[in-house]
Amino acid sequence: MKAIGICGSPRQAGNTEILVKRCLGKLEESGIETQFLPVHGKEIKPCIACCGCLKSKDGTCAVKDDDFAEYLDAIKKADIIVVGSPVYFGSATPQMMSILDRAGYVSRMNGNFLSRKLGGPITVARRAGQNFTYAQLLYWFMINDMVVPGSSYWNIAFGRAEGEVENDTEALATIDRFAENLVWLAGKLA
Ligand SMILES: Cc1cc2nc3c(=O)[nH]c(=O)nc-3n(C[C@H](O)[C@H](O)[C@H](O)COP(=O)(O)O)c2cc1C
Repeated sequence: MKAIGICGSPRQAGNTEILVKRCLGKLEESGIETQFLPVHGKEIKPCIACCGCLKSKDGTCAVKDDDFAEYLDAIKKADIIVVGSPVYFGSATPQMMSILDRAGYVSRMNGNFLSRKLGGPITVARRAGQNFTYAQLLYWFMINDMVVPGSSYWNIAFGRAEGEVENDTEALATIDRFAENLVWLAGKLA
């Protein structure tokens, strides 16, 4: 059983990273192998609708001149995919959406390899937009035939400066319960 956590913040050691790592830490405690995948310092281009993934049918994205392949490789190997994003003007970051757009399209053109993987989104913002962004990311899971457990609340958090999210104790408890539910669900499906 392998879980990955993609952190869609370009800011290193920020609030999204704290939340994604917290979730992965809980999974790790339950014996699940984890991998943290930040977008910080990476170049991730958007989908260019070339349909190269349909034409080649080799399970790769035709855009090769960036760092996307390492995310796609990890996504394919993972049983659990957690995606975290800060809210930027009411939405997920462009880096996060580029990964999801391209991975989703390659999957759909190559036998739906995302099908029945587990996971879910986490979002954080200073003041507003967490719910919209949570829903935005949830759409990706749902259209790709994936399975998302709930938690004691939506996986959303408040924080602006790096580390501020540590003060949002309800969010931390929500992430912990989300991780517990991922473990529980994975156990039921094993
Ligand atoms: C370009 C940009 C846009 C942002 N837009 C919003 C927003 O729409 N709503 C909000 O509450 N916070 C917004 N924020 C604040 C971030 O969501 C917040 O600082 C968050 O904790 C950043 O997460 P990070 O530490 O993982 O990078 C924005 C920040 C940036 C840099």
